[in-house]
Amino acid sequence: MSTLPAELAGALDDALGRFPTSQVTDAVEALIQLYRGGVDPSSLVLDKDLTVAAYAAYRMPATFAAVSAALRHAAALAPEFQPTSMVDVGGGTGTSVWAAQSVWPSLAEVTVLEQSAPAIALGRKLAERSSALAVRSARWERAVIGSSVAKPAADLVTLSYVLGELAESSRAEVVRSLAQDAGLLVLVEPGTPAGYERIVAARDLLIADGMKVLAPCPHERACPIPRGQDWCHFAERLNRTALHRRIKSATLAHEDEKYSYVALTRADLPHVDNRVLRHPFKRKGLVSLKLCTDADGLAEVKITKRDPAAYKRARDVEWGDGWSADT
Ligand SMILES: C[S@@+](CC[C@H](N)C(=O)[O-])C[C@H]1O[C@@H](n2cnc3c(N)ncnc32)[C@H](O)[C@@H]1O
Repeated sequence: MSTLPAELAGALDDALGRFPTSQVTDAVEALIQLYRGGVDPSSLVLDKDLTVAAYAAYRMPATFAAVSAALRHAAALAPEFQPTSMVDVGGGTGTSVWAAQSVWPSLAEVTVLEQSAPAIALGRKLAERSSALAVRSARWERAVIGSSVAKPAADLVTLSYVLGELAESSRAEVVRSLAQDAGLLVLVEPGTPAGYERIVAARDLLIADGMKVLAPCPHERACPIPRGQDWCHFAERLNRTALHRRIKSATLAHEDEKYSYVALTRADLPHVDNRVLRHPFKRKGLVSLKLCTDADGLAEVKITKRDPAAYKRARDVEWGDGWSADT
């Protein structure tokens, strides 16, 4: 279960306090409709303070949950990777910066590139409340990504929930330029068939350029998921704060954010033997896992009490985790 850092939740509450709740709920509803229809790459969605505040309150908890889960999966495979520099592209109000700092406290120098001036203004204001120097001292630069991205070299480069807002014709070049001088490049998209297709396209072209997948894939071969029938995605449950519930007119205390992602590197880092692709089916004496495997494409494995050590491990495995038949 993901929860926003308390400092960020408090800063969001205060930022939203400037606006009457009814205006924020209307702005949230307008954003939901807009994202449902797909964003026109030539438009500036986060164009004014109210829209940005509504976006931050409505989406930051979910994108924080997704991005931190993706980064955690990558970090779990490479404990020696301790990034000190980060560039977040299309950073919005800075969700990925908060997420990355929570996974890698080693971060010291952070740059956020973003086209929207009101998003930068709110992102900066939220970041001031962080106890982490890297977040507080982040450099926010106004930049419109065209066909490539001018950015400093960094150990970590992130692009979260942005690919879908870029013109399709420019995505390949943008992705290639993000990968330049990046120790680890992490791309995150909504966990929809379209989001997955954008991730797979970026994955395939960067593998062709010589990069390796750190997560989630256990291999660099073509994705074995049958296109049009299924898509690779994961889900992270997040707590809804009172503010979150209020502006979404929601009653449930949680929601599940579905996301697709890929983390790529040129370094020699290991990937998992197998990746768990669905909620494991668990019942007494049996755990059944749907896996993407290193050796055999997709596979379904059943782990029973007959192998007590494996069974004990399998009981704790979640959707999105790595799985190894041996310890
Ligand atoms: C859906 S928001 C995601 C924000 C943030 N990365 C997150 O995960 O919460 C998309 C962001 O990408 C920015 N963006 C979209 N197209 C852009 C472009 N061509 N150049 C710079 N920023 C862009 C938008 O202004 C917006 O802040």
